[in-house]
Amino acid sequence: MKKPTNKIKERYNRISKVYNIMDHMIRSSWRKEILSDLKGEILEVGVGTGASFEYYPMKVNVTGIDFSPKMLDIAQSKIPKSKAEIKLLEMDIEQMNFPDNSFDTVISSCVFCSVPNPIEGLKEIRRVVKPEGKIIMLEHMRSENAVVGKILDLTNPFTVRLTGANVNRETIKNLEAAGLKLIKEEYLMTSIMRKLIISPNK
Ligand SMILES: C[S@@+](CC[C@H](N)C(=O)[O-])C[C@H]1O[C@@H](n2cnc3c(N)ncnc32)[C@H](O)[C@@H]1O
Repeated sequence: MKKPTNKIKERYNRISKVYNIMDHMIRSSWRKEILSDLKGEILEVGVGTGASFEYYPMKVNVTGIDFSPKMLDIAQSKIPKSKAEIKLLEMDIEQMNFPDNSFDTVISSCVFCSVPNPIEGLKEIRRVVKPEGKIIMLEHMRSENAVVGKILDLTNPFTVRLTGANVNRETIKNLEAAGLKLIKEEYLMTSIMRKLIISPNK
């Protein structure tokens, strides 16, 4: 594993026990909206402590991956709360061990703020999702407001050091650079928090 990747992984291992107290950014209504109608084979990247598990419907197979074993330990304890079939694997989003075209849908929530090399991770997602499949994300990113964007740039070194998360990622540009196509974009909390529907085909 590369050095910056190890650093971020260690940060998530460190905060795993307090993560649920810290994490109030994602509303449960947003999770419900993106997860409750899914079908088929689902991959959730960066599952963290498994906050999404209770919103998956019955009869879907969910494979959840994360590179932090400590976050995964907590996620494992939430599996009984879910109606879905969930299996968890310790894996780096940037180097996944799945064959091409394996999943109908890929889910991420507040993950691409912390993936060390986001474009590499997005390319991997493009590889493992079926050509007719889709990617659904709830992600926070740099504000489109110039002043707020600058404030996020200034605070970014502190948030990365403290939590492993960047607050100024240019996720829309990263999607484009990874060869993904943005189908729908919805602002949930100004332009900082967005719901994205993405196609693997340009
Ligand atoms: C802010 S947490 C979000 C957790 C969860 N998705 C949620 O909605 O609560 C980000 C998670 O992404 C994981 N992560 C970041 N980069 C990763 C990578 N390259 N491979 C696997 N997991 C990664 C971290 O370990 C952490 O658990």
